[in-house]
Amino acid sequence: MRPTNTARTERVFPPLLILLLAFFALDFSSKASAYTTNPFFVRNSNPKPRPARWGPPEKRDGSIPLVISNNCGDTIWPGIGTQAGTGAGTGGFELSSGDSKALTVSPDWQGRVWGRTNCSFNVAGTGASNLNGNNGAGAACSTGDCGGVLSCVLTGATPVTLAEFDLAGGTGGTQTFYDISLVDGYNIPLGITYIPGDSASLQDIPPNLTNPACIGTAGWLADPSPSGENGNSTNSTYPVPFESKQTNAMVASWCPWDLQVTQPTKPGDGVYPYPDDNIQRPIFDPCLSACSKTNSPSDCCTGAYDDSSKCSPNLYATSAKAVCPDAYSYAFDDQTSTFIIPSGGGWEITFCPEGRSTNILATFKQQLEALSQGGGKVSKEILADCMNITIINEGSKNGGERTRGEPNRFGGSLGALVVVVAWAVLW
Ligand SMILES: *[C@@H]1O[C@H](CO)[C@@H](O)[C@H](O)[C@H]1NC(C)=O
Ligand SMILES: *[C@@H]1O[C@H](CO)[C@@H](O)[C@H](O)[C@H]1NC(C)=O
Ligand SMILES: *[C@@H]1O[C@H](CO)[C@@H](O)[C@H](O)[C@H]1NC(C)=O
Ligand SMILES: *[C@@H]1O[C@H](CO)[C@@H](O)[C@H](O)[C@H]1NC(C)=O
Ligand SMILES: *[C@@H]1O[C@H](CO)[C@@H](O)[C@H](O)[C@H]1NC(C)=O
Repeated sequence: MRPTNTARTERVFPPLLILLLAFFALDFSSKASAYTTNPFFVRNSNPKPRPARWGPPEKRDGSIPLVISNNCGDTIWPGIGTQAGTGAGTGGFELSSGDSKALTVSPDWQGRVWGRTNCSFNVAGTGASNLNGNNGAGAACSTGDCGGVLSCVLTGATPVTLAEFDLAGGTGGTQTFYDISLVDGYNIPLGITYIPGDSASLQDIPPNLTNPACIGTAGWLADPSPSGENGNSTNSTYPVPFESKQTNAMVASWCPWDLQVTQPTKPGDGVYPYPDDNIQRPIFDPCLSACSKTNSPSDCCTGAYDDSSKCSPNLYATSAKAVCPDAYSYAFDDQTSTFIIPSGGGWEITFCPEGRSTNILATFKQQLEALSQGGGKVSKEILADCMNITIINEGSKNGGERTRGEPNRFGGSLGALVVVVAWAVLW
């Protein structure tokens, strides 16, 4: 029995399922229907066992806000998967354009949120409606579908833009790890916004360092600004470093032609000269990742390729990274895609955020190197740099086009690599 979205009782996942979850978390050769996970989360996951519970959290569990907002023009059906800790008590629901839903999860929650599109469920939400021509069987949504049910358990079908969280990561579970992942493809724009907790030190973290966005759909990008610092999608109090080059015309065709879920047909002979003869693509143009399409070891960095020196980013990963510099684009992309801040605050996931894709991690690459070489200590210089508009403008010239798949240039262990917003970990 699948839980429905009205299930209020706490569900404890059976041990077998937990084993399966662990398997998925570690298994990079996942089938097209299973999500991959940022391997950094797995390596750094809090060793304390955290059984996955359905939720919502009870008082004694503590609770962290998880708000899901739909800024898209169409209805979205968010899906929520819980890998560890106590989930929100729902695995998905319908969210109309302009609506927001406030949920809570436990402080040790690990899970993911994604958007499903073009769904049509039966009244009970237990399967697809009869409208899709297959009599209630099969997928209910065109992207992100999870076995046709409204309330997902763990995963949905690729391609999806994914928001991933481990609220109790790092040593002792005191840090929140999060990312926007395009490893399983891209369907709709997504942004993550930090909701500071009650602690004053958390409230001091500038939102411009914590809030990544990925916009890879034509029509959603604000105009680029030459400086990369604004692009009229933020406000003067908190200038955010943005990706500075993409235009709506460019994001209309970033997806490598054969990875489009629905390749437009060309009138006439149907033969496509490389790359695609400038055929008009649909605005809503979900894109599979190379890994989710081919499942090959070289695309998924598995087997003989399970090593950062042997698995360099493919065309999909480079294209995705150019459009969304802060997103995680392939298995060894940790250093430019995992955000880390002290635990305690909550999160809003916005589908179709306004503005532009952010370029936060690349902008502060040097500062991060200095940070990891200094053993994670935050110097006055790093702090000053974080407030330096000149550096943000410089960062905008490089975002998304730096060489990737290079050996670790940050020095030290992978752990030190990803100390991202770690100056905020001072307290
Ligand atoms: C499918 O969903 C997308 C994203 O919400 C939307 O842009 C598109 O118009 C939908 N297509 C159909 C056929 O409803
Ligand atoms: C962004 O700025 C441009 C010019 O600076 C302006 O024409 C446009 O209306 C602005 N867009 C939004 C959404 O504010
Ligand atoms: C800018 O954004 C911050 C954070 O969302 C908000 O508190 C502030 O009022 C905004 N400032 C302006 C001038 O809109
Ligand atoms: C973040 O906001 C602070 C406070 O407004 C500002 O001084 C700083 O330059 C901003 N940093 C970035 C990376 O945008
Ligand atoms: C900002 O950074 C630039 C380039 O590193 C540097 O020349 C400048 O002095 C810095 N400005 C401040 C106010 O620190």
